[in-house]
Amino acid sequence: MTENPPDAAEHPGATRGSSASLEITRPDDWHLHLRDGALLERVVPATARRFGRAIVMPNLVPAVTTVEAALAYRGRILAACPENADFEPLMTLYLTDETPASEIEAAAKSPHVAGIKVYPRGATTHSSEGVSDLAACVSVLEALASCGLPLLVHGETTAPECDVFDRERVYLEETLSKVIDRYPTLRVVFEHITTREAAAFVREAPARVAATITPQHLLLNRNAIFEGGLRPHHYCLPVLKRERDRLALLAAATSGDPSFFLGTDSAPHTRDSKESDCGCAGIYSAPVALEAYAEAFASAGALDRLEGFASCFGADFYGLPHNASRVRLAEQPWSPPDWNGEGESAIRVFLGGQRLRYRVEDARL
Ligand code: DOR
Ligand code: ZN
Repeated sequence: MTENPPDAAEHPGATRGSSASLEITRPDDWHLHLRDGALLERVVPATARRFGRAIVMPNLVPAVTTVEAALAYRGRILAACPENADFEPLMTLYLTDETPASEIEAAAKSPHVAGIKVYPRGATTHSSEGVSDLAACVSVLEALASCGLPLLVHGETTAPECDVFDRERVYLEETLSKVIDRYPTLRVVFEHITTREAAAFVREAPARVAATITPQHLLLNRNAIFEGGLRPHHYCLPVLKRERDRLALLAAATSGDPSFFLGTDSAPHTRDSKESDCGCAGIYSAPVALEAYAEAFASAGALDRLEGFASCFGADFYGLPHNASRVRLAEQPWSPPDWNGEGESAIRVFLGGQRLRYRVEDARL
């Protein structure tokens, strides 16, 4: 197996466990960036046509820090959905050092808010209002632990001396594991895990701790950032890790363990902001995400486990019913377009131009 196959469909492992087509319960995306304004209108259809629900990240500018702001954002998302879309955005609040416990209690009462997101301050895109020390957010953590609303964690330390490839492991050791121990009823989603240490931690943790895994972290290792030159469109945070980490994530995702479920972290940025002196982190995968997960699961001979990961385990963790409708993935090789849009405002599509084995039927790009 090549580490980053240029053509995933020709990947020898991808034939194992494949079948002509696969029908699964309509999936959900438990970690998604939809942005706002014109960008929102461009990216929401790709998700709304494929996924039943999505947990929508609150890192707008200004950040979505209140229930009121989350409900207003939800309205804008619904207005941007294609007609007849069967899609429910699940909103999140952005935790700051100033968030009062009363806002957590209000969020828990809202049927439209599904979680509270913590960004360590300065860890990633639009995190400058994030939390300076999660362990110090005592009243908020107590409120979360008592109301059952999950804490969604971007798990990376921001200590400047910490190597960028060690930031997730160090945050887990120094902060997240301690918070999880200290609040025995706190529910946590360790978002977009990227390391074998994170996968092992979640596997061993109680059922109140879960993790999402992105398609890029299942298909690529960090060589993809440097393949023949610098590849800004493969830069996301947490950054891609080693092959041994990718294999540990693939094993976790395909294990059937309900603690691991789908979260694309699809994060659109326009071409000018990616191909720049200081390019933004984020990979736009929404139009190809389910197909990309299918490639990954097929490479592990585990297509029969895709449905649990994509359509069941996340809903079970969030206490929501599985979607009633189904989607069909046909074995029908195709190549996604390279770009959404044109010129400087185009968005690079993950796996654009590569040949993929599976295609979601009846879902336009
Ligand atoms: O790659 C990323 N992009 N990681 C994040 O944590 C944020 C996201 C974004 O909003 O662009
Ligand atoms: Zn994200």
